[in-house]
Amino acid sequence: MTLPEQLKDKIRTISNLPTLPQVATSILKEISNTENSVEKLADLLRKDLAITAKILKLANSAYYGVPRKISNIQEAVVLLGTETIATLVLTITVFDFFPDEFSDPGFNKETFWKHSIATAVIAQSIGNLMKAKAGVNSDDLFAAGLLHDIGKIVMEQYLHQDMLKSIMMFKSSPDITTIFGAEEQVLGYTHCDVASWLLSKWNFPDRLLDPIIHHHKPYKSEHSGNRIQILIVALANELSHNYFIPYTTDKIAVDEYLIDKFSKDAGITPRTIDKLRRDLQETLADSVDNIMALFNKK
Ligand SMILES: [Fe+2]
Ligand SMILES: [Fe+2]
Repeated sequence: MTLPEQLKDKIRTISNLPTLPQVATSILKEISNTENSVEKLADLLRKDLAITAKILKLANSAYYGVPRKISNIQEAVVLLGTETIATLVLTITVFDFFPDEFSDPGFNKETFWKHSIATAVIAQSIGNLMKAKAGVNSDDLFAAGLLHDIGKIVMEQYLHQDMLKSIMMFKSSPDITTIFGAEEQVLGYTHCDVASWLLSKWNFPDRLLDPIIHHHKPYKSEHSGNRIQILIVALANELSHNYFIPYTTDKIAVDEYLIDKFSKDAGITPRTIDKLRRDLQETLADSVDNIMALFNKK
């Protein structure tokens, strides 16, 4: 994705660019290497005690449903699989990377994280329902769902004035229905461009990057290989508005037209979507609360 000139100009003014912690960088290298071994991943993780402790806490949580206690990292990697562990490391580090203190009252961090986690859980659930489809990985979908709006946090910290401008525009214009739309109009760049810039710098693989940067315009992607994943994250983002609204206001409504279109194009039947919605109605709030607690966001 080529960055808009307006954003390129802004980036030049940011002096202390965020860098990804070493362990996550190594893990990213490792997961892009198809022959990632249990020992190699476990070795990398042992170098970071804080990450190891969190992985074990997550691996032992109800969310992963492993029936016995996992006491060391090697066991966690074997039981959950290298891909799940790698995705966990990535989400933990990126989550930790952004502090909880948001300075602007217009940016409600709790609803932001709830919306992000809900999107992650929904994308993962869709992935589980579609298991048979080649190329759809539920762990990747969880990570992409969780990080889909990460550009907003980067803007909150590094492009604060611009973020305020777009929120003001969004709130004051009845015909603008999304923050994304306000950003396009008032800034000439969006939180998706910001995510594209930062996550490319961090060498995120395309299969995670694409769904994140195209969640508002899933038909604009250049890599058709990730089309289904992009549609699933776009769909999960729309569906999650059913349960947790994004930050700023209640103006964003559930867009049934988009839900229909994205699910049809991803090959998901209306019956499956109905079932998913019923299941989510029962379980999503609890899942979101559990994950908020696991990631120490509450
Ligand atoms: Fe978004
Ligand atoms: Fe979103």
